[in-house]
Amino acid sequence: MKTSLLGPPPPLKWAGGKRWFVRRYRDALLKVPCRRIVEPFAGGLSLSFEIASHKNIPVLASDINPHLINFYKSLQLKEFEPIDLEVSKEFYTAIRSEFNQLITIGADSSLRGAQLFWALNRLGFNGLCRFNKAGFFNTPYGSGYRKSLQLPWDKYSVLLKNWTFQVGSFETLEIQKKDFLFCDPPYDHGWQGYYESSFSFEQQVLLARWVQSQSVPAVLMNHATPRILELYKSLGFNIHIISAPRRISARSDCRENTEEVLAMHRLSWQDLFKSV
Ligand SMILES: C[S@@+](CC[C@H](N)C(=O)[O-])C[C@H]1O[C@@H](n2cnc3c(N)ncnc32)[C@H](O)[C@@H]1O
Repeated sequence: MKTSLLGPPPPLKWAGGKRWFVRRYRDALLKVPCRRIVEPFAGGLSLSFEIASHKNIPVLASDINPHLINFYKSLQLKEFEPIDLEVSKEFYTAIRSEFNQLITIGADSSLRGAQLFWALNRLGFNGLCRFNKAGFFNTPYGSGYRKSLQLPWDKYSVLLKNWTFQVGSFETLEIQKKDFLFCDPPYDHGWQGYYESSFSFEQQVLLARWVQSQSVPAVLMNHATPRILELYKSLGFNIHIISAPRRISARSDCRENTEEVLAMHRLSWQDLFKSV
């Protein structure tokens, strides 16, 4: 069942973003007892923008992508002002060159870096954030930008005031007693080009073990491949399969539904999700 989302829209569109999931299970997610949300795979932070804003609780958001975290931090510090977007390939190519120039000279962790990163995200193809092996941004121009979309910039700095942002991998995070852990890693056998290296199956195993070792409620999402199901079952997760829209393909006829697994730890589908 779909519910309307009431929190501010996330300022970035993100490949593999879970806005559809939050829309479907918002009421259940609001019932998870917690005083903080932890998202080790932050991306577009769909879940936190909705659930943390409604519950008025802080978030610990972490991601391997330093440009993403630089953007959120500058939003938090109230220094961010969006640059005027021109919906053209020439403009996109020019700001992409400027962004890559900042990377070359080591000045990408700056306000200008954050502004360009946001503009590239809005105008780039389907929320993809792709870098080549040399570390330069190479997402192609997209055509899906909605000029009418107004983002509530003044609300973001208020909402993000008590949030913590970190660059890094999940193992470094310190989980506290009243946390709710939401893990949305790159999919097994899915899009892997998020930042520099891909997320291997060995990392999926480490992540599943790490989540399982925590003493707080957690949800781990993934593509329901046979090896992922076997892994999550062997670790004793509470498993539920849901159908999900797949959105990365350029061709609308290729965006068929796929199956995803919701692996829950210290949470039960019966208690939370079945009734919504
Ligand atoms: C599926 S996306 C998360 C989408 C997010 N839940 C949303 O709603 O927009 C996965 C994220 O994991 C990040 N990532 C990839 N490998 C990582 C790692 N080893 N540690 C932390 N983050 C990683 C990527 O940069 C990407 O932002």
